[in-house]
Amino acid sequence: MYRSHTCGELRTGHIGLEVTLAGWIQTIRKFGSITFIDIRDRYGITQLVIGEELNEAINRSALGREFVIQAKGIVRERSNKNEHISTGEIEVGITSFETLNKSNTPPFTIQDDTDGGDDLRMKFRYLDLRRNELKKNLELRYAVNRAARNYLHEKGFMDIETPFLIKSTPEGARDFVVPSRMNTGQFYALPQSPQTFKQLLMVSGYDRYYQVVKCFRDEDLRADRQPEFTQIDCEMSFVKQEDILNMFEGMIKSIFLEVKGIDIKESVQRMTWEEAMWHYGNDKPDIRFGMKLLNIKSSYLKNGKITAEGELIAGSGFAVFDDAETVLAIAVPGAASYTRKQTDELTEWVKRPQIGMKGLVFIKCNTDGSYKSSVDKFFSEEKLKNIADACGAAAGDLVLILAGPEERTRKAISELRLEMGQRAGLRKKDDFKLLWVLDFPLFEYAEEENRWVARHHPFTSPKPEHIDIMIGNSPVIENASAYLQHPYAGIKANAYDMVLNGNEIGGGSIRIFQRDLQEKMFSALGMSKEEAQHKFGFLLGAFEYGAPPHGGIAFGFDRLCAILGGSESIRDFIAFPKNNSGRDVMLDAPSAIDGKQLDELGIKTV
Ligand code: AMO
Repeated sequence: MYRSHTCGELRTGHIGLEVTLAGWIQTIRKFGSITFIDIRDRYGITQLVIGEELNEAINRSALGREFVIQAKGIVRERSNKNEHISTGEIEVGITSFETLNKSNTPPFTIQDDTDGGDDLRMKFRYLDLRRNELKKNLELRYAVNRAARNYLHEKGFMDIETPFLIKSTPEGARDFVVPSRMNTGQFYALPQSPQTFKQLLMVSGYDRYYQVVKCFRDEDLRADRQPEFTQIDCEMSFVKQEDILNMFEGMIKSIFLEVKGIDIKESVQRMTWEEAMWHYGNDKPDIRFGMKLLNIKSSYLKNGKITAEGELIAGSGFAVFDDAETVLAIAVPGAASYTRKQTDELTEWVKRPQIGMKGLVFIKCNTDGSYKSSVDKFFSEEKLKNIADACGAAAGDLVLILAGPEERTRKAISELRLEMGQRAGLRKKDDFKLLWVLDFPLFEYAEEENRWVARHHPFTSPKPEHIDIMIGNSPVIENASAYLQHPYAGIKANAYDMVLNGNEIGGGSIRIFQRDLQEKMFSALGMSKEEAQHKFGFLLGAFEYGAPPHGGIAFGFDRLCAILGGSESIRDFIAFPKNNSGRDVMLDAPSAIDGKQLDELGIKTV
């Protein structure tokens, strides 16, 4: 054994004991002929004191940061204690030591506030992983993993692996493909999720399945997206939506309890997709704060109807509102005191290309009861008051209004709401608010292709009461600009997402389990019978051999960990992540392969 104890283990109770420690040198300080070394391992840091008698040996070994050493000595009480570390009350007086391995000077300091930039730390990820922050993240990840597995095991779920070399799975992103040497000119696809396999497992009778599994999607990357990421993927048979919601609400609560010590007693709040879009402009609302939207003029669906909340702006002669498809407002608490400079800055903020609005209208609800606006010319004070009141604005609040095309404006106000919530300190990292969003639309309009695509995936079942609408109407969209009027726009699915603090952490659905309905679904998506048979014949075939009713959900494991750890970026919670261009800068992948390998695969690059 290289060590008798770890570097985080020794306490005053060990005083007088002879111990051997092994680890990395965090710091070396020399005071005359006495040397102090902080030695680090995964468990902590211990101070070693090397006296005069070993001074020469120390000088000879030319120790430096990150050298791996082994040191033997006696535990003793420290005279100046360090209350910041768990071993701070003791030190080890060293009687002998050995260098186990040397180290180059690390490219950045391996401590909490490192001097290393992002790229450098990614390149030397194995060094970055020595830092406390990343270590804590990986520990949290493991704790979440364990808590999920414990819960699912308790509930009778079986972990079953599914293959990675498969045929395309339709989760809506591009596939990563793998060429086959033995089948020249043909390709496997890496799974975007194990969706079809878990459904086949239900047909096979494994009525409670789960897997903590890698998924691969070739899509544009963001802070919360990686090309390979991990799901806690689950499926159950003989269940209705309510059974799934309860089961996985239980799982998430048990993760919160085990990992964060937070005992969530109340049921997770629920909201329909329509409500979410109407009140928050977003299908994953952050409900840690209010600031709900007011639809002053809108063509959006509410309760299945195209509607608006009031004619508060009609007849003003203000062309920006009159000509806009949608006008949406929010009331920001306490922001009426914003200066001209601040409102100008906000206007610039909404004009940035990412937000894409032409301008911002505001109403200041002053504390003296007066109303001041950037459009005073068009609106009397009474009208301004009416709008402010409808938004629920109180004296001292600032009403912000955006006008423009439906989708863009809704997205923009939803971003603005989040930004204002952030600025007002209403999005606290340690405040966790879970939400189920239910009744998603079954279809989504794909503008570029002028056709319907599956909002979740094509195996999601329509609400039973909407099946006839799907079967009874042609999917053809005659009038693209009025697609919301097409009967398909109103079809809802038995699909649900779990949202945590404005992030989609999980999504799933009750599945179609009858061949004929699945065929009709494929046809609604514009797939010919032959194409459906070619792509999903295996599943359609399986549905003819006693497929049970089933449904499931998959949680974004990396996302869940990041939010629990108080971070926006999932990268910090993955041991070896890719950068924003999908590159592994440590391995330098992807990279070219040699000609011989290409020949074997029958591939020519252009
Ligand atoms: P979905 O596509 O909604 O559902 O994915 C489930 C969850 O996975 C997470 N997620 C991601 N995390 C990191 N990087 C990505 N690129 C990424 N993409 C998705 C999200 C999301 O909620 N087969 C279905 C599940 C089902 O129907 O049971 C599926 O994959 O947190």
